[in-house]
Parts: sequence; structure tokens; C-alpha cells
Amino acid sequence: MVELAPQMDALMDSLIDAARAARLNAHAPYSRFKVGAAILGESGRIFVGANVENAAYPQGQCAESSAIGAMVAAGDRRIRIIVVMGGEPGDALCTPCGGCRQRIREFALPDTPIHVCDAAGLRQSFTLDVLLPQSFGPDNLAF
Ligand code: THU
Repeated sequence: MVELAPQMDALMDSLIDAARAARLNAHAPYSRFKVGAAILGESGRIFVGANVENAAYPQGQCAESSAIGAMVAAGDRRIRIIVVMGGEPGDALCTPCGGCRQRIREFALPDTPIHVCDAAGLRQSFTLDVLLPQSFGPDNLAF
């Protein structure tokens, strides 16, 4: 668990609201499991994404991937904070899938916070390093 500083409350509220709104727009007719994500980029802007499923199932895209794509297209390259919202209270925690942990890794640092929410709000906070320890990243390629 990560302790949240009180001054982060307003920012967290904005990110959670943004993830909630994006989640409502998810295209998830097959799993019926809607997910929203919100990223605070280094510019201070918030980028959102939702899962986008496809009739050809493997072509579906996670909410985190969508949000990362929006961030990159807008010119930011650093994830300061990411919020993921999926499921209802009482459901299993909607932590990012393995693939998305690696996608987040590309634009984040070991201590980057990943806040996991359900429809009612914040459930649990992690750092990237907790969810993806000993990770492979851009540093390995010396870029
Ligand atoms: N999903 C996400 O968008 N993000 C996650 O962190 C976990 C899973 C999506 C993928 C698929 O559209 C649906 O949730 C069910 O797996």
C-alpha cells in the first residue's frame, strides 16, 4: 500500500472522475466488463482511455493501453500517476493485466503510483515496482 498525501486529494478526485467517465464509454459487449483509465502526464494534463473490445476477441484493447495511446498522441511521454477503474465493490481488484504493466513500464518509474478503483472509488494503491518487479525497460536497451 502507498500512503496518499492530503494535498493529492483534489488531483486524485479529478483522476478518479476522469477514469469513471471513460469507463462509461467502454466498448465491452463481449465481457461486459467495463474499464476506464486516467493518466496524469508530465505536462499536468489528464489522458483517459477505456477498453475497446472486438468481435475478433484477441484484437480487444485494455483501458490502460487506450490511455497510453492518448497520452503519446498528445505529446507526453511520462506517466506521473495512473488510475484504473473496473468492477463493482466486492468484486476482485481490477489490477492491470501483465501486458499493461509492461506498457505502463515504458513511460513510468519504479515508484510511479498505480491506483486501482472500482465503481465506488479508490480500492488499493500500488507502485509499478510492486506490480512489475525486476522489470525490463528502456534502460535495458540503453536508450
Ligand atoms: N481490462 C482492461 O481494460 N484493463 C485491465 O486492467 C483488466 C482487463 C479489460 C480487457 C477486457 O476488455 C475486459 O477488461 C475483460 O478482461
